[in-house]
Amino acid sequence: MTRSMSQPITVDLQPWFVTLDDVAERYDGFVDWADYFGNANPVWIDVGCGRGKFTVDASDANPDVNLLGIEIDYREGRHGAKRLAKRESPNARIWGGDVARVFDKLVAADSVDEVHVYFPDPWWKRKHRRRRVFTDEFVDRAVRVLRPGGFLHSWTDVGEYFEVISALMNHDRRFENLAPPEVGPAENDLDYRTSFERKKRKAGCEIHRGKWRLIP
Ligand SMILES: C[S@@+](CC[C@H](N)C(=O)[O-])C[C@H]1O[C@@H](n2cnc3c(N)ncnc32)[C@H](O)[C@@H]1O
Repeated sequence: MTRSMSQPITVDLQPWFVTLDDVAERYDGFVDWADYFGNANPVWIDVGCGRGKFTVDASDANPDVNLLGIEIDYREGRHGAKRLAKRESPNARIWGGDVARVFDKLVAADSVDEVHVYFPDPWWKRKHRRRRVFTDEFVDRAVRVLRPGGFLHSWTDVGEYFEVISALMNHDRRFENLAPPEVGPAENDLDYRTSFERKKRKAGCEIHRGKWRLIP
């Protein structure tokens, strides 16, 4: 059946892609993860998931974890959701919208086990820097949603941005700085954590990796 152009953007990819308005309509306040995913497994959030490589791969590799990708660009988010729909993924979803709204309005305190932020947009122009995802407000948001003992991972190829991220995280007494994973040469074209990691490593860029734990 051909869909009419007036149908909502999310219809054919539900439940794998929904907008934040869809989520807010279903829950009066914060989302109950056990109700949403149908189990009480840990929840990992992939902030700015792009085309969803990490959301898809991590949900395949960790069937006992629930993955939620957040992506402000619906086209990108729907791309990842198509892959989830194809495999009828039971443990991964993508929400279209701004992570600030997600963390402030939809995610309950102490309810997330891991927050992943891979290759966040650097917003080079000074006047655009306020759009950057990784700010001191973001760190406070992550502290609120993470369970004590939860992890925050962030990777980027932008050295100057990683200095900002590390300064925020390493000086924050609520977190301990952990050793990031050792990453060897890619064994094949899929052996990258995210699409941007593949693109940047193939271009010869150095990748900066950080991992922190919220001290219980
Ligand atoms: C450079 S891409 C990286 C995508 C993916 N993480 C990867 O490593 O391949 C950054 C992504 O973050 C998304 N993004 C930027 N600001 C956002 C926000 N406030 N909320 C959700 N997503 C955001 C962008 O639309 C873009 O898809």
